[in-house]
Amino acid sequence: MKIYNSLIKLENVYHRYSITRDIFNDISIDINEGGFYFITGSSGSGKTTLLKLISSSLKPSKGNILFLGQKMNDIQKKDLYKIKRQIGFVFQDFRLLPHLTTYENVALPLRIQNKNEKDYKKDVVELLSWVNLEHCIHSYPNYLSGGEQQRAAIARAVISSPKIILADEPTGNVDQTNSSKILTLFQEMNKLGTTIIIATHDEKLLSEINAPIIEIIDQKININNRK
Ligand SMILES: Nc1ncnc2c1ncn2[C@@H]1O[C@H](COP(=O)(O)OP(=O)(O)OP(=O)(O)O)[C@@H](O)[C@H]1O
Ligand SMILES: [Mg+2]
Repeated sequence: MKIYNSLIKLENVYHRYSITRDIFNDISIDINEGGFYFITGSSGSGKTTLLKLISSSLKPSKGNILFLGQKMNDIQKKDLYKIKRQIGFVFQDFRLLPHLTTYENVALPLRIQNKNEKDYKKDVVELLSWVNLEHCIHSYPNYLSGGEQQRAAIARAVISSPKIILADEPTGNVDQTNSSKILTLFQEMNKLGTTIIIATHDEKLLSEINAPIIEIIDQKININNRK
């Protein structure tokens, strides 16, 4: 059996949303299985776009994206769905479902996987307590603060123990205590083998973990391995 070290590869990727402006101009990256990465760059440089390309929720204008050596373009729809289920995405704008409570939002990935609530209820409650949300388990997202919504979005992304976690500014709205807890959560998951990619402006976060930084500058990327 072939053992892959490369989990996701971007090969000579170009992207533009409109003909007037390129976002990426020939970038290549290798995301290793079990790795921990940061993505940085100024506002509007393309951090969210890069996360979308990595998760295959956005098709590049040109170039290839490979998952375990296979071109995403060649992967059949049902297999693509299986791959996407292995990715936990923390959206910059949270995207909690307004008609579901915090508990129901966080449990949603497990419900989608047809898991039995009696097997996961305790885990969901424990995770919500870890991210300091026990007081709003039964509240709807509109009644939560920005930081509370962000922590709920993180809990939802990690609850099903995905193979990859892509987190877009996951500490943008939370205080220092919660930011440290979130980082600890990601580190613990990384120790268990989860690949973590975090887009952030947060200098403190960048200084706390000595992980490679993928910096976006002028439609290109620069990788600082910090070793
Ligand atoms: N769906 C879209 N259609 C057209 N342009 C878009 C779209 N999404 C993003 N853009 C543009 O692409 C550029 C990169 O956007 P992106 O959201 O990736 O930046 P970012 O680095 O995540 O910024 P921020 O730090 O503010 O979150 C921006 O100029 C943005 O206006
Ligand atoms: Mg963004």
